Amino acid sequence: MITDSSLAQEAAQVRALLQETARQVDAALPDYLPVVSPHAGRLGPALTHTFHGGKRVRPLVVQQAAESSGLTAAAVLPTACAFELLHTATLIHDDLPAIDNADLRRGLSASHVAFGESTAVLAGDALIIAAFSALARQAERPATPADRVVRVIGEFAHFSGAEGVIGGETADIEGERQAPEADLLSYIHLHKTAALFAAASRAGAILAGAPEAVVDRFGEYGETLGLLFQVTDDLLDATGDAATLGKPAGLDAAAGKQTYPALLGLEGTQAYADQLAARVLTLAAALPAQHEVWRGLVWVVLRREA
Ligand code: IPE
Ligand code: IPE
Ligand code: MG
Ligand code: MG
Ligand code: MG
Repeated sequence: MITDSSLAQEAAQVRALLQETARQVDAALPDYLPVVSPHAGRLGPALTHTFHGGKRVRPLVVQQAAESSGLTAAAVLPTACAFELLHTATLIHDDLPAIDNADLRRGLSASHVAFGESTAVLAGDALIIAAFSALARQAERPATPADRVVRVIGEFAHFSGAEGVIGGETADIEGERQAPEADLLSYIHLHKTAALFAAASRAGAILAGAPEAVVDRFGEYGETLGLLFQVTDDLLDATGDAATLGKPAGLDAAAGKQTYPALLGLEGTQAYADQLAARVLTLAAALPAQHEVWRGLVWVVLRREA
């Protein structure tokens, strides 16, 4: 068990930073959402509905990686918003009857419950496209030259597409009701979740012009933190409740998903989470700055209740 009390203090700092990230991102998001004609009916409200209540962890990672390499958090706000736009789209699609069939998200009705399945599919599509539009607008910022922005757009496409999140989501669905299998599970978690964390931490470093070796270190930190994030998500699905999570609990076992509790049991999964956390703390020590933030984030993810 990781019980370092200084980590708990650093976690408090990260929780405060998450509040500040949420404030900045939530204020900026409307600028990156398309203006929808009333003729498109439910699409307009469907674009904003699912933004209420997320933790904003991925934007925090983008902003802190940029700060660790010499930019301000505000300088990379368009990219931080792009990650939240894409992430929210994946949640809308993940909850669809054809995928996880979940009716609650971020404490509200899932998009397809509130607006119907066709509108939820289209709203998710529109948010993915809005994410790329937000990334393009990063080039308007003088602190982040266009060549760095173009590279981030390419990596964002790679990590969120069929070689990343979408590949992981597909394997997650195809792996349902099969015996848990370590290699498949690792592929699923690394792709459906860790890929976007890797992309977020690399993006902040790339935009700040960090040396290549540092960008790679951020990528490794982000990927391992993202894996830990999905392992704790598996644990929360098995042990949490909908009121605290803001999403249904117990869906993974009911759907026969490939999860770490299914493979290792609850105690084995907790031990694996501790082992991953120790690995992320080692990776945090190799980052160039903000060590207290990168360490505190590990604790926040390991000990999260939602
Ligand atoms: C939920 O992500 C989906 C997973 C990758 C497990 P979060 O737990 O970050 O969800 P929000 O953004 O806080 O709602
Ligand atoms: C989903 O994993 C990850 C993505 C949305 C890509 P889960 O299906 O476990 O996420 P939750 O538990 O519904 O948030
Ligand atoms: Mg899912
Ligand atoms: Mg799900
Ligand atoms: Mg889950």
